[in-house]
Amino acid sequence: MIKLIWAMDQNWLIGKGNQLPWHYKKDLAYFKEKTKGQPVLMGDMTYDSLKSYYKEKPLPFGQLYIASVTDREFPDAIKVTNIDAFLSTHKDDLFVIGGKTIYRLSLPYADQLYITFIDKSHEGDVYFPTFDLTQYKLIQEDKVDELRFCVYEKVKP
Ligand SMILES: NC(=O)c1ccc[n+]([C@@H]2O[C@H](COP(=O)([O-])OP(=O)(O)OC[C@H]3O[C@@H](n4cnc5c(N)ncnc54)[C@H](OP(=O)(O)O)[C@@H]3O)[C@@H](O)[C@H]2O)c1
Repeated sequence: MIKLIWAMDQNWLIGKGNQLPWHYKKDLAYFKEKTKGQPVLMGDMTYDSLKSYYKEKPLPFGQLYIASVTDREFPDAIKVTNIDAFLSTHKDDLFVIGGKTIYRLSLPYADQLYITFIDKSHEGDVYFPTFDLTQYKLIQEDKVDELRFCVYEKVKP
């Protein structure tokens, strides 16, 4: 199952200077709980962002898959150069953890969406790509302060 997980504000903002535009402890805890030890796919920008967040510590995921089309090597990860080929044949559970480019390329393969809606407007420079949320059914919703933790499942045609 392919699952996308992200947090966005009222305007679908997700990033600022290759970092999160905010600091919500409860959202970080939610992200860590869901993705701990799990196989994850991310773009190389998000990889750099997480590496700087975790400093010398290893990233707390399972198998890392990093999307990149350059010659860059990733000693701790499997490099993915063709996202369509990778996702269309990937049978095991996988969390796609960003960023914008990789969410856009992965959306057609998403079975579930884990979206944290932030009921506020922040400043930043990267927005989640526009897509049709009505193709998904809300299966779980938890409201905590200004955060709404939602899980959606793709409606089968
Ligand atoms: N709010 C959230 O939940 C959340 C979560 C994650 C990230 N973010 C934010 O998202 C932003 C980063 O997004 P981004 O779009 O700039 O970067 P990204 O999606 O993390 O990475 C983009 C990289 O993917 C590679 N790529 C592009 N097209 C590809 C393809 N067709 N096949 C394989 N690889 C491909 C390229 O790497 P090469 O140049 O190496 O080829 C490109 O630099 C940051 O601000 C970050 O903080 C937010």
